[in-house]
Amino acid sequence: MPDIVFFNGSYLDRDQVRISPDDRGFLFADGIYEVVRFYGGRPFELQAHLARMVDGLRSLRIDGVEASTVETVVGELMDRNGLSGSDALLYLQITRGAAPRVHHFPDGETEPTVFASVRAFSSSVDPTVGAAVITAPDHRWTRCDIKTIALLPNCMAAQEAHERGALEAVLVRDGVALEGTRSSFFGVIDGEVRTAPRSNYILPSITRAVTLELCRENGIPCDERPILLEELDGADELFLSGTTTEILPIIQIDGRKVQDGLPGPVALRLAELFRARTESGTS
Ligand SMILES: Cc1ncc(COP(=O)(O)O)c(C=O)c1O
Repeated sequence: MPDIVFFNGSYLDRDQVRISPDDRGFLFADGIYEVVRFYGGRPFELQAHLARMVDGLRSLRIDGVEASTVETVVGELMDRNGLSGSDALLYLQITRGAAPRVHHFPDGETEPTVFASVRAFSSSVDPTVGAAVITAPDHRWTRCDIKTIALLPNCMAAQEAHERGALEAVLVRDGVALEGTRSSFFGVIDGEVRTAPRSNYILPSITRAVTLELCRENGIPCDERPILLEELDGADELFLSGTTTEILPIIQIDGRKVQDGLPGPVALRLAELFRARTESGTS
């Protein structure tokens, strides 16, 4: 299989990419990323991902990358890697570029570093099986709404989950269960689907927005209201959502079963509705 990637304006073999040791992504995690899913060769919610990318670049004041350019690159990468028509995953990363190491932004023109790659991908998680999660303190900064590459707190919590035999860690700040290290977090509490409201403490997740849309379209009561740690034990259901996770019921949290320890009906229904949405091509 070819592994052709995009790097600063060129299509190269992955092995040919050379990233400068002065790159501010390497030195300061000064950049953003996006992950986009393709179903049958069709990108899922690409415009929403591009809009979030543009917002992130604006927040970090990184100039010089247009959504339209990235859109062209994405299509080209799928073609060049023989993935047109396939299930695949795009990884895109943009940093402020390479410049002598000072904390403030480089003076003068610095070209951003743009890297993108695609690979064949299909889901390794099964909603009918569900997943175990743990809770962990949220040690991230207070701009979690920007999809930056500064993911160390996420990695630390994900490692703890991994070591405890769980798939994901749900991050808790000030007694509120906010989101996973790479997924959004939902509860079904008193018959209502709930997830943390949009704020600087969570990522404006694309799958989270689709999940809420599916609830509204299908008459499933839902609300964007904080889920308190103390509400977890009594919840009817808990579930995760995300680009790679899709919609995944949680069957165990911190070693305790969620209800009877089986995937809940609301999460399973949403997982089916989500799957139908990915197959319909209305993305
Ligand atoms: C912290 C966090 N929350 C939520 C998500 C899910 O976001 P999306 O649905 O846009 O993939 C991710 C994805 O990486 C994430 O890192």
